[in-house]
Amino acid sequence: MNTENMSEARIPRHTLHAYVSAIWTHAGSTPREAQLVADHLVMANMSGHDSHGVGMIPRYMASLGDGELKLNTHAGIVRDAGAVLTIDGKKGFGQVVAYEAMERGIERAKKLGVCAVGLRNAHHIGRIGHWAEQCAAAGLVSFHFVNVAGDPLVAPFGGIDRRFGTNPFCAAFPRDGREPLVLDFATSGIAYGKTRVAYNKGVKVEPGYLIDHAGVPTVEPKVMHEAPFGSLTAMGAHKGYGLAAMCEIFGGALSGGYTTHESTLDTTNAIINCMTSVIVDPKAFDAPDAEAEADAFVEWVKASPLAANTDRIMVPGEPERVRRAELEVKGVPIDPTTWQQIHDAAVTAGMPAAEIDGYMKALR
Ligand SMILES: NC(=O)c1ccc[n+]([C@@H]2O[C@H](COP(=O)([O-])OP(=O)(O)OC[C@H]3O[C@@H](n4cnc5c(N)ncnc54)[C@H](O)[C@@H]3O)[C@@H](O)[C@H]2O)c1
Repeated sequence: MNTENMSEARIPRHTLHAYVSAIWTHAGSTPREAQLVADHLVMANMSGHDSHGVGMIPRYMASLGDGELKLNTHAGIVRDAGAVLTIDGKKGFGQVVAYEAMERGIERAKKLGVCAVGLRNAHHIGRIGHWAEQCAAAGLVSFHFVNVAGDPLVAPFGGIDRRFGTNPFCAAFPRDGREPLVLDFATSGIAYGKTRVAYNKGVKVEPGYLIDHAGVPTVEPKVMHEAPFGSLTAMGAHKGYGLAAMCEIFGGALSGGYTTHESTLDTTNAIINCMTSVIVDPKAFDAPDAEAEADAFVEWVKASPLAANTDRIMVPGEPERVRRAELEVKGVPIDPTTWQQIHDAAVTAGMPAAEIDGYMKALR
């Protein structure tokens, strides 16, 4: 496929979903696995988080080639202690094993009021908001602490080299018949994927997010992509660093997985996530007004006079909802480089040229 003269493509959500699903079916996934992976990746793009969307396919395909990603692998219960479940992802697709881990935790939280789930050794579990939304769809509150085991990119507060991953934190509050509130972010100041985008475009990043190999602040994204390597900094100085550290310890250690240190550094294409999730049934609290109180708060903060260059005040999860509504109409934008890489991954997966061409024809 020649993408040289192709400007950013717009692909209808359902076409992109079918293409992604077909790629993984050709690679050897069951139809259910292929569907769960496509559900997750396409929804990440739809939510505006391209760094965790279909652009991950080439990396996953490389991890499969390395023998790291294990297709058609299911979450295995290591220990069932009632309200605490320890689950092994066995390097299965994170989109499958995290889904299954949440299914188990949801079922248990509905029965007991609360369930803590430790999921370890999952291949990349992507956009953590996806798992919080799965819990919220079942009417449950959830908190998620995640580490990216053995893959350091972020410097500790006061340090000058990369010692841990972009460790995401996520929390969600369900609302009856409406979209939940979902807070979901990497604890680095900016996501690693944003430095890649800036590097590829030849532009600088905003000040405050990067240091070079000597610890000197820089706006050059190349420090993340060319030796000598620099580091991302944690969001919010010592507070963000502290949250990242607790994500590492809750996600990596408490789950029975592993944290990032000398003996766990990983140089393969695999991305291994460990996650500790706490899933709570809000109905178990004596709080019949909880949702009304949350609504009153949302209304209150939205009534603040607007700062310059701001057209509205949003709450966590709202930017993603706005983006989904927009892309449902306009299609999902994919840049030519990413589209070419996905095409190459489809070839690697064994998809026949005629089938690939069929998907290309569906482009807007
Ligand atoms: N699996 C992994 O290893 C891994 C690692 C790091 C990040 N991630 C994922 O990457 C994704 C992107 O992370 P990020 O740090 O770039 O996210 P981000 O900086 O875009 O922040 C997103 C969060 O901030 C909220 N938000 C954004 N703008 C807002 C506004 N104006 N008002 C109110 N709320 C607002 C969003 O609703 C969302 O909850 C996340 O989904 C995260 O889970 C995954």
